[in-house]
Amino acid sequence: MTDERTSATLPHMCGIVGYVGNRPAVSIVLDGLRRLEYRGYDSAGIAVVDGDVVLTEKRAGKLANLEKALTERAADGIATGCTAIGHTRWATHGGPTDRNAHPHLSGDGRVAVIHNGIIENFARLRAELEAGGAEFRSDTDTECAAHLLAAEMRALRESGCADGPQLLAEGMRRTVRRLEGAFTLLAVDVLVPDAVVGARRNSPLVVGRGAGENYLASDVSAFIEHTREAVELGQDQVVLITPAGIEISDFQGNPATGKDFHIDWDASAAEKGGYDYFMLKEIAEQPQAIADTLLGRLSERGDIVLDEVRLTDQDLRDVDKVFIIACGTAYHSGMVAKYAIEHWVRIPCEVELASEFRYRDPVLDRSTLVIAISQSGETMDTLMALRHAKEQKARVLAICNTNGSTIPRESDAVLYTHGGPEIAVASTKAFLTQLVACYLIGLHLAQIRGVMYADEVASVVSRLQTIPDQLRDLLAGMEDVRALARDLKTASTVLFIGRHVGFPVALEGALKLKELAYMHAEGFAAGELKHGPIALIDQGTPVVCVVPSPAGRGVLRDKVVSNIQEVRARGARTIVIAEEGDDAVAPYADHLILVPRTPTLLAPLMTTVPLQILACEIAAARGHDVDQPRNLAKSVTVE
Ligand code: F6R
Repeated sequence: MTDERTSATLPHMCGIVGYVGNRPAVSIVLDGLRRLEYRGYDSAGIAVVDGDVVLTEKRAGKLANLEKALTERAADGIATGCTAIGHTRWATHGGPTDRNAHPHLSGDGRVAVIHNGIIENFARLRAELEAGGAEFRSDTDTECAAHLLAAEMRALRESGCADGPQLLAEGMRRTVRRLEGAFTLLAVDVLVPDAVVGARRNSPLVVGRGAGENYLASDVSAFIEHTREAVELGQDQVVLITPAGIEISDFQGNPATGKDFHIDWDASAAEKGGYDYFMLKEIAEQPQAIADTLLGRLSERGDIVLDEVRLTDQDLRDVDKVFIIACGTAYHSGMVAKYAIEHWVRIPCEVELASEFRYRDPVLDRSTLVIAISQSGETMDTLMALRHAKEQKARVLAICNTNGSTIPRESDAVLYTHGGPEIAVASTKAFLTQLVACYLIGLHLAQIRGVMYADEVASVVSRLQTIPDQLRDLLAGMEDVRALARDLKTASTVLFIGRHVGFPVALEGALKLKELAYMHAEGFAAGELKHGPIALIDQGTPVVCVVPSPAGRGVLRDKVVSNIQEVRARGARTIVIAEEGDDAVAPYADHLILVPRTPTLLAPLMTTVPLQILACEIAAARGHDVDQPRNLAKSVTVE
């Protein structure tokens, strides 16, 4: 995996394109947006500098809706300007509506901004801007940046600075210095017609170098048909593009340089960021997806902040039982949540397959909290279970990756995972972000109910915050797992065992292998082996064993080690996933995969990842379509 692959092209949630040159910009930017369509999105918009106005058009839904609106407006000249920015949105703050689609304009309509990422301090900024008279026209965090940039530009002009591209760059630098979080921003100002300014912090932005024209985009596929010469920006940089050139600085205004590179991928490889499959790209995006899901969740007082919680603290204090409903991979995240919620919150928590839930007459009432977990927000089984829960007067809280989808719409509260669009059918980054969301909800409940102190919550959150870096380290060392995958491609069955939170990880590893490699795979609670499944073990049967941390409950870890010995004694080929430093397991492992140390309950954030790679690589070695396995659909809207 090269640096270019990881840093230049890993997308966040939204697609971004900017153009400045001597050709009509609308069609170039629209083409770019079309090339970013593969990411999935819920709305799109464009801003063009045309004479002395910024013309904008934005629409919820497909790009075709935007194109139609633009065709209808062709007469007002929107197609003639040579400077434009365009955006496809994957909603985070504010639902997917026309009004929340980007670009967002400043109050005077002179500045237009598009944004990818999450501005963590937006609530504070918005309050400050509103107190100063700004009128907001959307529910987005992005609109703060438009008002801030316009105010900075005004202040610079009033202090006598000459208008021109440099002013726009300085305005952007002053703006981004006020922002916290992760963002890529692009902006245009009608008084600086031949320039687009961009800024980047923890979110991708690449520059396309043309002749007499230049491009900005969240990934190279947006401009690959115009130029193959690109510049990757570093962290915390501002870039100014004009027809004549590209200027890069840091947020303080010191000159900086990006990294030039030549794009030799074809369009389809570019979409996948240079990876062979979307699934591999999405596995690699997991550190960022987790970081994004954690962004903005801790208030200045150290409390956990959830989105759209239409439940009062008293409602949450009154909860006497939690039910988690979900399907497939999302169900496995719920199984992990059960361990965390019962341990932290000390109330009973049941996990149910959504498809079974309503048929067994579960006992629910107003003091039951039902947590519905769904990446797509459209899974019919989960939706029907949710409706059943609501009929019984239970409160429903959704964990969802798709803003504005049906499940969060019908719930009393929602916590969005900010994983960005997941294209591969097999769920990877959605799973890890669902786990993070479950942990946050568990901590929130524990805090509100007074069973954990604020400093205890903060200590778990700070461990969560180190997970992205630990995951990056883990992902950088997966060569042995790939080699093992090639070796296992002819196995007729693969078994997975684990205990405690390692049990759902075993189930998830087996599910991934079934759905991608079409192999017989089964996950078991390791203690159940002796009650039947151990009879499946034959000479050479691969058994993946998820070992709990010895630092958690020693007895638990020792029991798994005994289980490994039992299967090995019966001829199994053991693939052991254990924590770094747990050298004592090495003698029982035919293959040892070490993962970074984490607190016991957070371990699935690490131990799942080698299993995702294993399944993906075995499927590829068997010649299957990894991103679109047979018989499966990404969103299952039938019961
Ligand atoms: C497996 C997988 C499925 C989904 C399940 C629920 O890799 O992707 O098992 O997890 O269909 O889908 P959502 O989360 O959209 O409700």
